[in-house]
Amino acid sequence: MLNSQELNFEQIKGQAEEWTREAGQYIKKMMESSFSISTKAHQHDLVTDVDKNVEKFFLDKVAETYPTHRLMGEEGSFELINDLEGIVWILDPIDGTVNFVHQESNFAISIGIYLEGEPIIGIVFDVMGDELFSSIKGQGAMVNGQRLPKLARNSLNEAILSFNAGWMLKDRRLEKLVESSRGVRSYGVAALEMAYVACGRLDAYISFNLAPWDIAGGFALLQEVGGTATNYNGDPLNFLEKDTLIAANPGVYDEVIEVIHGEK
Ligand code: IPD
Ligand code: CA
Ligand code: CA
Repeated sequence: MLNSQELNFEQIKGQAEEWTREAGQYIKKMMESSFSISTKAHQHDLVTDVDKNVEKFFLDKVAETYPTHRLMGEEGSFELINDLEGIVWILDPIDGTVNFVHQESNFAISIGIYLEGEPIIGIVFDVMGDELFSSIKGQGAMVNGQRLPKLARNSLNEAILSFNAGWMLKDRRLEKLVESSRGVRSYGVAALEMAYVACGRLDAYISFNLAPWDIAGGFALLQEVGGTATNYNGDPLNFLEKDTLIAANPGVYDEVIEVIHGEK
């Protein structure tokens, strides 16, 4: 049974932001020393001690402060989570680890706090850019304390899209999107790319292989500004398994679906 402190979402958001900034400081400190880097499934998939320590930091803090909340993190704790009952923190301790290791920038801490599978709080923190995107259900989204406006419908011919070049090799229909849009960018950090859609810097972000921790924080932000996010087929996202993603400005979303799948 959740007590009132464990359901006080304003307080939880403030606490999560504080821990996120603290974890950001830790990451910056670690960048000045050496840490171990290893590959996971393939050469695109890196993990460092820093990723693991940030996850452990959040696991300890959440368990100590909100004993009934559960945490699903990329670096191991996801193995204990098979459902989204109650309150679940969905954490990517470092999203964009390849950027973290190779560029020392363009990586984020991402947290989505979900109640019975629905997004309540979103936090995406660009550690080196010092930009903290956050949202709470029904109260809008902010970046560094400044409110983000609701997204006005944009059209594809004026849209900036984002996806990894590798996805074009998997689905040539993406070429049509390149031709029809104003331009394509690729940042390699899913959570931040979703946050950029939420604040209008991008108009759509597409990916073919994302895990719940890549998208949970960004999806919460998008919900608050009227953005649209589904899988590549247009079906609702699920936060227990890997899936494809289209996260977009609502006008651009409709056109993207039309280009990919034809009129529905
Ligand atoms: C990755 C990044 C990347 C996306 C990959 C993710 P990680 O997360 O979000 O942009 O293309 O699919 O796995 O491994 O750096 O946390
Ligand atoms: Ca990730
Ligand atoms: Ca990660």
